[in-house]
Amino acid sequence: MKVTPWEVSGSVDYDRLVEEFGTKKIDGELLKRVEKHSKEMHLFLRRGFFFSHRDFDLVLEDYEKGKGFYLYTGRKPSGPMHIGHLIPMLFTKWLQDVFDVNLYIEITDDEKYVFDRETNWKQIGKWAEENMRDIAAVGFNPEKTFMFRDREYIKNTYPMVLAVARKVTFSTTKAVFGFNDQSNIGQIFYPAYQTVPAMFEKKRCLIPCAIDQDPYWRIQRDVAESLGYYKTAAIHSKFLPPLTGVEGKMSASIADTALWLDDDEKTVKKKVNRYAFSGGKETVEEHREKGGDVAVDVPFQWLSILFEPDDARLGEVRDKYARGELLSGEMKGMLIDRINGFLEEHRKKRGKVDLKKFTHTGTLAKEAWERTYEV
Ligand code: TYM
Repeated sequence: MKVTPWEVSGSVDYDRLVEEFGTKKIDGELLKRVEKHSKEMHLFLRRGFFFSHRDFDLVLEDYEKGKGFYLYTGRKPSGPMHIGHLIPMLFTKWLQDVFDVNLYIEITDDEKYVFDRETNWKQIGKWAEENMRDIAAVGFNPEKTFMFRDREYIKNTYPMVLAVARKVTFSTTKAVFGFNDQSNIGQIFYPAYQTVPAMFEKKRCLIPCAIDQDPYWRIQRDVAESLGYYKTAAIHSKFLPPLTGVEGKMSASIADTALWLDDDEKTVKKKVNRYAFSGGKETVEEHREKGGDVAVDVPFQWLSILFEPDDARLGEVRDKYARGELLSGEMKGMLIDRINGFLEEHRKKRGKVDLKKFTHTGTLAKEAWERTYEV
């Protein structure tokens, strides 16, 4: 297994990651604490998809004491977004709704630039704009959300980025990110920027993301207190698997095994039918007799992670499939309908997005452009 911010491969052992990264598992006690504040427990928590954290308990403590906290997440504009990229955004929206807090969304055009020697600013600018629309369509509070491109906001952040950069040695970045003599110096510098939004307010910051981003938070946590800020908290998800099997993560680099937010109905149908790995048996007769295996069945896993929020209905699907009453084609059909419903809704919301609110004219956005981050 390999899990870095740039590569996830093999069968991911999430228990081992918790140990190796030094994070904590989200346990029943923590969930009960969240439940006190929310009417309903988000399915990502109920079903253990967000499974690990750093200091989420302290975030709740701060909130309960009235000190508050804020949220931060991000996206590298490397191309169109797939459904996996939307997962942290959907969860972040839920957290913002429950706790009514500020949210910062970093669009790392600089990261894309230094990590991809083939690209150029025109391409990056196009994807940044497209991605920002997809992200805004998730429905964040426009008065309490600030979305910024690194290249534009650098004039406000540069002093703080330098303050972090001065404290992090090359040897640390080699150990944390695996940089080597072939890495360009833009790559080596970049992590300083990604830590800074976790110090935009003198409150504890909570970062929802998949576990691959955790190395950045280790760096932030090393330097934050010496700069007069809190160590950031984070809440980590597992990876939405690709269509082709439950191992690894849906990745932009293997196009057909990912589902893109702009895939039309026909494409969704074709991809799921053609590529989705099924836990069903070879023949209908054998399936009816022996039943299917939901543990490796990607359509079932996707329903469980994202597309079937009703626990009773999901349980019914699981049992019927295991007993052979539900066929693979029927399972795929259910998923196709759900995905197409979800994407249609997404496209409608996307069409109504007022992006300027998030980037310039909303209350938090306006205030954020007035700030400089000095230490
Ligand atoms: P990026 O653009 O690669 O990914 C955006 C977010 O999506 C998560 N993610 C996934 N989640 C579930 N299943 C998947 N298959 C999957 N693939 C990606 C990522 O963990 C990430 O949360 N360097 C970052 C951009 C960034 C950022 C941040 C992300 C800047 N600041 C703060 C999170 C929080 C990046 O390249 O993300």
